Amino acid sequence: MNTLLVTGAAGFIGSNFVYYMLEKHPDLKIIGLDALTYAGNLETLAPAMENERFRFVKADITDRKAVFKLFDETPVDAVVNFAAESHVDRSIDTPEIFLKTNILGTQVLLDCCRAHGNIRYHQVSTDEVYGDLPLDRPDLFFTEETPIHTSSPYSASKAGADLLVMAYHRTYGAAVTISRCSNNYGPYHFPEKLIPLMITNALEGKPLPVYGEGKNVRDWLYVEDHCKAIDLILRSGVPGEVYNIGGHNERTNLDVVKAVLRLLGKDESAIVYVKDRPGHDMRYAIDPTKIKNALGWYPETDFDTGLKKTVDWYLTHRDWWEHVKSGEYADYYEKMYKNR
Ligand code: NAD
Ligand code: TYD
Repeated sequence: MNTLLVTGAAGFIGSNFVYYMLEKHPDLKIIGLDALTYAGNLETLAPAMENERFRFVKADITDRKAVFKLFDETPVDAVVNFAAESHVDRSIDTPEIFLKTNILGTQVLLDCCRAHGNIRYHQVSTDEVYGDLPLDRPDLFFTEETPIHTSSPYSASKAGADLLVMAYHRTYGAAVTISRCSNNYGPYHFPEKLIPLMITNALEGKPLPVYGEGKNVRDWLYVEDHCKAIDLILRSGVPGEVYNIGGHNERTNLDVVKAVLRLLGKDESAIVYVKDRPGHDMRYAIDPTKIKNALGWYPETDFDTGLKKTVDWYLTHRDWWEHVKSGEYADYYEKMYKNR
């Protein structure tokens, strides 16, 4: 593989993947494509811009003309699609853009790969396509055979994209793989999501809004371990296959928030319980047996280490998140949390 196209490269996981791949594969060239929506940030890619093996292209994956032009002009050996609308709460407010970007954008990329000699394509999906698990059945986990059963417009749009990716494999023989990962955390995470929101609110002396009773469970994975899994799938995964990614690290939201506060040396008085998210999934938990057995993947960073690294990153990158939290973010926060 010479040239990799990474879509959504200016977002949280996409940018971490760019850095992981540039470091891991010294001959690889990467084109990072991103529409720079509210979640995309060129400051995140500033160190990559100095690398001669990286090039940034501003484009929208739903813009068929622009995406085809890029593929016509530049030979691409593989595509990893991270570009998406990714926040469940926003999807409850404005579902349409989720369907457009997440489903129609995926279709444009699949069509491009098909029109250019069946380019290898990897779809970055989520465990949320499986719906949720009950809290009183800790023996249950999501496997690749778990039926798709979505709860939010976000997860429905990701499931729609997954179905399309598989349909292109069956109908056109497209060389595709899909990964479904649990919740990620780490550097460059947009502060609308639980962990970076709690870290930055605590640093700003603001309340920490926990939905409902904080008993919902998420299965947290350090972002670098997700990147490692995608790299393995890209090189050794079998086209037409789905791989679940997760490290058996289940925590209640309240436990996560308390762990953040402990690392910051703060007490729990800033925690406030706010109105629950409509349709709120109770528990996510991945069974990663397939990717372990088939590709030898295992998570390297445990939660205590990963959370400490993450908190340290936010402490030392105050400029990054203060900039992100100004502007449009302030309006979003006001609207989302004001009457909660
Ligand atoms: P993010 O919101 O931080 O980044 C998404 C990026 O996509 C942004 O840079 C944004 O500008 C870009 N983008 C949005 N619409 C676009 C469009 N139409 N054209 C081009 N670029 C566009 O999201 P993330 O957390 O980095 O998630 C990346 C992918 O991983 C998503 O597909 C998400 O569903 C999936 N995923 C995320 C998690 C998680 O915990 N964050 C877990 C599993 C899977
Ligand atoms: P989030 O980071 O939005 O990821 P997802 O919904 O995709 O799992 O939320 C993680 C969990 O944290 C989820 O159960 C909702 C909860 N949550 C809060 O309690 N308060 C908040 O302010 C946010 C953003 C999330």
